[in-house]
Amino acid sequence: MSRPEELLTRRGDIKPRTFVAPGRINLIGEHTDYNGGFVMPTSIDKHFTFTISPNGTDTFHCIASDLKESKAFTIHDLKPGHGWHNYLMGVIDGLVRRGKVPSGVDCEFGSTIPVGAGLSSSAALCSGFGFALNELFHFGLDRHELVKIAQESEHKFAGVKVGIMDMYASLFGKEGTVMKLDCRSQVHEYLPLQVGDHEIILIDTKVKHTLASSAYNDRRAACEEGVKLIRTKFEEVDALRDVTPSMLEVAKPLLSDEVYRRCHYVVHEIDRTTRAAELLKRNDVSGFGALMYETHWGLSKEYEVSCEESDWLVKFASEMKITGARQMGGGFGGCTINLIPQHLRAEFEKQVREKYFTAFKKECDFYSVKLADGVHEVVRQ
Ligand code: GLA
Repeated sequence: MSRPEELLTRRGDIKPRTFVAPGRINLIGEHTDYNGGFVMPTSIDKHFTFTISPNGTDTFHCIASDLKESKAFTIHDLKPGHGWHNYLMGVIDGLVRRGKVPSGVDCEFGSTIPVGAGLSSSAALCSGFGFALNELFHFGLDRHELVKIAQESEHKFAGVKVGIMDMYASLFGKEGTVMKLDCRSQVHEYLPLQVGDHEIILIDTKVKHTLASSAYNDRRAACEEGVKLIRTKFEEVDALRDVTPSMLEVAKPLLSDEVYRRCHYVVHEIDRTTRAAELLKRNDVSGFGALMYETHWGLSKEYEVSCEESDWLVKFASEMKITGARQMGGGFGGCTINLIPQHLRAEFEKQVREKYFTAFKKECDFYSVKLADGVHEVVRQ
């Protein structure tokens, strides 16, 4: 297949434009987004880069350069599935359903986001593609609408009932800050990330998490089941966001042990995230780190979305007096996020690498991340 630049030259068409769509980290607030709670994510300096231009036809020619794969389709071919192109199709479907019908494009993209590491490459793919089409065809949709389109693509075209955190972070992230996002009202507040002499380091367990596995949807269903039952006692409850720890205890006899543990984790995680935001504003890094550990053990023991490797990394971090550590993202592998005092960084990394290899017979990876701006166009000078 011809590369977009060649196609464009051949057609004498408009110059391609370049857009960047970052992955995300989340400091705290896990599995709270689809419960109407709070999260604290931001976009990072690992991203997709799209080179894209209208091609004057009705065909979308898309090239995933890292995979050396290409696909061509029209709006009549849109269908769900598990390929990268299905996410793009989902985005086009969302636009079309809003009366914004794009014509064909030539689009090539590549990414520096490690896949399956819990850094939301799929949300970045959908957010970046939606943003680019919105710009190219002057659709005039705002970023909130693009968040919805990206989320709908994951729901309808990839079959995973994700919350809004990942695409929201990719679209709204701001360099040097994290955001406290209220997933119910979809209003966010930027908080400067002042962590003193600490670094944020991700450790990739190299356990490929597959959110598409039904486990994520099962967790969501357990929360919905909890809400339904709690509402029989407290009719004002619409989501776990409305449930306080004491309400949950009153409703406990109505819930199965499993549903209770899932709800217990979420109710307390929403509370932790609110407290964490206050600690961050006061530059209380050690208080913040302690909450990250609490989150991890809640994810592991109550929500049961951790894995042996993540548990091992977090336990080891705590033994090495690392300020905060926890599994990040949907779970079942991917990365842990660590708040590491600079003076411990080198020794910690050395020991983790050696001991992780001894324990699991595979290497883990360390990623140092910078907090970067959300989806944007790269304007060439
Ligand atoms: C995945 C989902 C998000 C969120 C996290 C867990 O990343 O895409 O919506 O639910 O898991 O916090």
